[in-house]
Amino acid sequence: MIRVNPERFLADLHRLRGFGAAGVGKGVVRPAYSEADIAARDWLAERMREAGLAPHVDPVGNLFGLAEGRSILLGSHSDSQPEGGWLDGALGVIAALEVARASVEVGGPPVSVVSFQDEEGRFGVTTGSAIWSGNLGLDEADRQTDRDGVTFAEARAGMAGRADGFVDPGRFSGFVEMHIEQGPWLYEAGEAVGVVTDIVGIRDMRITLDGEQNHAGTTPMHRRRDAFQGLSRFNALLNDRLRNVVTPQTVWTIGHVRLHPDAHSIVPGQAVFSMQWRDGCADRLRRMEAVIRETAAEVADEAGLSVSFGDMLGLEPMPMDDTLRDALAASAEAVAPGRWRRMQSGALHDATNVARLMPAAMLFVPSIDGISHAFAEDTDEADLATGLEVLAGAVGRP
Ligand code: GLV
Ligand code: MN
Ligand code: MN
Repeated sequence: MIRVNPERFLADLHRLRGFGAAGVGKGVVRPAYSEADIAARDWLAERMREAGLAPHVDPVGNLFGLAEGRSILLGSHSDSQPEGGWLDGALGVIAALEVARASVEVGGPPVSVVSFQDEEGRFGVTTGSAIWSGNLGLDEADRQTDRDGVTFAEARAGMAGRADGFVDPGRFSGFVEMHIEQGPWLYEAGEAVGVVTDIVGIRDMRITLDGEQNHAGTTPMHRRRDAFQGLSRFNALLNDRLRNVVTPQTVWTIGHVRLHPDAHSIVPGQAVFSMQWRDGCADRLRRMEAVIRETAAEVADEAGLSVSFGDMLGLEPMPMDDTLRDALAASAEAVAPGRWRRMQSGALHDATNVARLMPAAMLFVPSIDGISHAFAEDTDEADLATGLEVLAGAVGRP
């Protein structure tokens, strides 16, 4: 049996938050390859070494702490959203570190640790694990740009001095990722743990509407080719049309919009925006794509605009491994009897990619008020400790 130390685990979790701590409460700004992200990875590598693991950075900045021989792999990511919380990703990495070192202390099963790079998609969608798993080619990834036009190739060069080759996935028997739920269900039900059944799929692309930049005082309304008005019409029509395709679990988001030239007195000539949609059914994702493309083309045509679509990135819906799921469920029932459930993940996770390489599973702990991807993200520390016990229990099971 692996005896984890919740105080040591929480202390490290708070230390990791010190890299990029921002905003009110426990906010964090630690996007992939930022100074804070790289400093956090250097610190984590040191903690891994102290835990008896061999730190290893791969060519895209994924950081592994490798146990000797064949081992189970635990972890998540330590990069954050442009405005994020202290637990998204960080929890799974520090929980992995604690289980690994506690396992060493009792001469338990070998446990390796990973912090994947750019899970939060500064350059796409779960970039580091997508490349490691073969879901995304390195050449293709290198061409991806962030919202300021920096390429992935340029960003990862910032860690090149630390990098070695890619780790052979064959050395791992399976992968378990602990994470906050990031939604309201466990919190509202007063439950402590979720065992993930499957992770939804995602599609994500940039859409550009081009019109005509002109004077905001002198250009009559009927002569305008206003890119923002096109975007506004697209959004309203899309919400209406998707109703025929979606279920209550389907979600779609326009989260980033850039108007050019972005000024009070200029009719915007260009709108570039992100379009993302998620669902547990690949066929529904395809049907949504058709509606999105047709609606954008129709709006552009009506408003005298042109439309172009960027590369579409995506991950398929992914079931979790039955055996690992059962181990997590048995451990949850032992640690928190009657206070856990099986549930789908509406958020994306590195586990989707890793599941291509080896059996993979996930467990969730509640998010207070269901808030995440925001400075206000938090979880009761008692729930964090319960999740840690469940993880250790599943890994240590005979
Ligand atoms: C990952 O953070 C996601 O966007 O679900
Ligand atoms: Mn995450
Ligand atoms: Mn996230």
